Amino acid sequence: MIEILRERWNRDAPLRDLVAWLKKEMDNYDNQEWWLPFVEFDPERYTRKVLYTEENMEFVLISWLPSQTTFIHGHPSGGCLFRVLYGELREDRFEQNDMVYENKAITTTNVNYIDDSMGFHRVYNISFQPCISFHVYSPPISQK
Ligand SMILES: [Fe+2]
Repeated sequence: MIEILRERWNRDAPLRDLVAWLKKEMDNYDNQEWWLPFVEFDPERYTRKVLYTEENMEFVLISWLPSQTTFIHGHPSGGCLFRVLYGELREDRFEQNDMVYENKAITTTNVNYIDDSMGFHRVYNISFQPCISFHVYSPPISQK
């Protein structure tokens, strides 16, 4: 999966325009469990595994145990595409004044997108099972 995304990625397109394309590539991929070897749980906090990084983008797999959560955060240097591969997350979206304007389940159905023009967010696993999600950041956030 990573090789395919790396090869076919349209590096000229803004991240937000790649939502439908990414969903299609992932839905059409033969091995829907390609991510299994990269899963890593930590009872203390969710774990981020960088799967691929280059100058302007980064693929990250996040493994969540029940009750693990991010802080409320923005993406000041760019945007984030993300998709749940297994399980279910919840996402709160905040306006700049910290008021929640959206609270929704993030399921395996869709690819989601956020950048700071859409506000901040907090993502968490309140289900009773582990969750695995895939994230694309542009530019990469791990190198800082
Ligand atoms: Fe985020």
